[in-house]
Amino acid sequence: MCGIVGYIGYQLAKDIILDGLKKLEYRGYDSSGISIIFEKGKLETIRKVGKLKNLENELKNLNLNGNIGIGHTRWATHGKPSEINAHPHTDESGKLVIVHNGIIENYMSLKNELKSKYEFKSDTDTEVIAHLIMDNYKGDLYQAVKLALRRIEGTYALVVMHADNTDYIIATKNSSPLIIGLGENENFVASDIPAILNHTRDIIYLDDQDIAIVYKDKIDLFNKEGNKVSKNISKISWSISAAEKGGFEHFMLKEIYEQPFSITQSLAGRVSEVEGKIYIEDLNLKIEDLNNINRIVILACGTSYYAGIVGKYYLENILKIPTDVDYSSEFRYRNPVIDNKTLVIAISQSGETADTLAAIKLANSLGAKTLGILNVIGSAISRETIGNIYIHCGPEIGVASTKAFTSTLTCLYLFALYFAQEKKMINSDYIREKISNLKHVPKLIEKIFSPNSIKNIKNISNKLANFKDCLYLGRNYNYPIALEGALKLKEISYIHAEGYPAGEMKHGPIALIDKNTPVIAICTESSTYDKVFSNIKEVKARDALTITIATEGDLNLATEVDYIINVQKLVKRFHLL
Ligand code: M6R
Repeated sequence: MCGIVGYIGYQLAKDIILDGLKKLEYRGYDSSGISIIFEKGKLETIRKVGKLKNLENELKNLNLNGNIGIGHTRWATHGKPSEINAHPHTDESGKLVIVHNGIIENYMSLKNELKSKYEFKSDTDTEVIAHLIMDNYKGDLYQAVKLALRRIEGTYALVVMHADNTDYIIATKNSSPLIIGLGENENFVASDIPAILNHTRDIIYLDDQDIAIVYKDKIDLFNKEGNKVSKNISKISWSISAAEKGGFEHFMLKEIYEQPFSITQSLAGRVSEVEGKIYIEDLNLKIEDLNNINRIVILACGTSYYAGIVGKYYLENILKIPTDVDYSSEFRYRNPVIDNKTLVIAISQSGETADTLAAIKLANSLGAKTLGILNVIGSAISRETIGNIYIHCGPEIGVASTKAFTSTLTCLYLFALYFAQEKKMINSDYIREKISNLKHVPKLIEKIFSPNSIKNIKNISNKLANFKDCLYLGRNYNYPIALEGALKLKEISYIHAEGYPAGEMKHGPIALIDKNTPVIAICTESSTYDKVFSNIKEVKARDALTITIATEGDLNLATEVDYIINVQKLVKRFHLL
């Protein structure tokens, strides 16, 4: 995820900003930049690709002694990592600068409107905001930002500064975090607390669409209606290392809790409920290419492979195109049968996994059309494929994949819908309904994080902690989910776990089931509910402890099993399809 730091006060802004950006390095980035107003009317912007050290070295050679500035570490979402795409971005005069986290959903239409008036230099969605603000600028930066925001759809944490104005910087946000740190005769803005903890522990959290005018000795705060408001000051007691994890014990937990946001980001700019339409950029596949495809092969490893199996079910259900999922490490060492009518999709969070990279190169050499579903823009795999869909879940720091898995599923589903839409297999009413369902998913995930639900999950975990083996069962879509559940359990708890298609249990594994092998069955409301229910009875008959993931309100299961984890029902019948 990108990082933002802004400063206004009496110290050298470049030192404070660089120090703050370093504190956000753990979040991952591919380029960085800084703008400093060193004299009224004059600012300097430096941007560098790669490590912050590159920016730091460049700054050492410059005498940038201003006390007001903004800085940014970028994790590419629109446009590859490059100096031109790095933030801060300026307007045409070079006097207005902005840094931005988030995704502007309507940037293409705004760009089309503005490009007759202004020259665009980058591929980013952010640059649109700079031109839009200047388009509204008549000497009052606050008013210009306010007017520009009325036109913007999407998520943003935005900090804006104008060279003619050395009294304040502007900070605003919508669904992306941004905080203000309060000092003595100096104030700070940051996307995350660790960036400013060395200087202050007094924080104001902005609400969505608040606009803050940050002076060195005061903050003027306006809510989305434009009314002046005051906000409580929160005292931060966390250590820097706790703050990096957002107060969570470890990154994996933080990333689990990030899922409502990361899924929202995966959808951002790609779905229009009004039009009943899916948009996917950078696929580079024309309708003739899509019409020509008669087979799909998904290549991936680990968690990405399990996401691929869910993808197979989506693609075959929606498109009726035969789809295989292959381990990259197997595919690359045999003689796979692939031709130019095969679409090969590489799934990889990192975009760097050696087996998947080698497998996609092999697919290219065999003439396939290749596509990446990736998290890291500019990664090795993205440079091999014809087109890419980025999952936009932000850097995944925890080794055990969590939010990348659910964002990948989101993108696989979007791709299946998009493909069917382009081939005119589904109409806008169908798509509209699916978009509406998808938009509900983040809210339903949040319910799993309610205190009662977490208490229940912790209690079940305590019961499982002393077992040595576990079996995960599921059918249909929940079969790959069972595989992924078992992988997470072994990776994190070192308890041996296997995922199995529930219907296969009777063909051997049932021999292992007894009171020492708890069974975690995914038995949500679906077309295979009754089948899984009978499998649960079978394992119960062998004295296994039974834990079930069930649809809320399922009283039948509640009386049958030892423990239940409830999930919410998304649609009236069955699943997303
Ligand atoms: O970056 P990738 O998605 O290509 O990584 C593939 C696997 O190594 C990865 O999914 C791994 O299985 C998970 N991190 C395990 O939680």
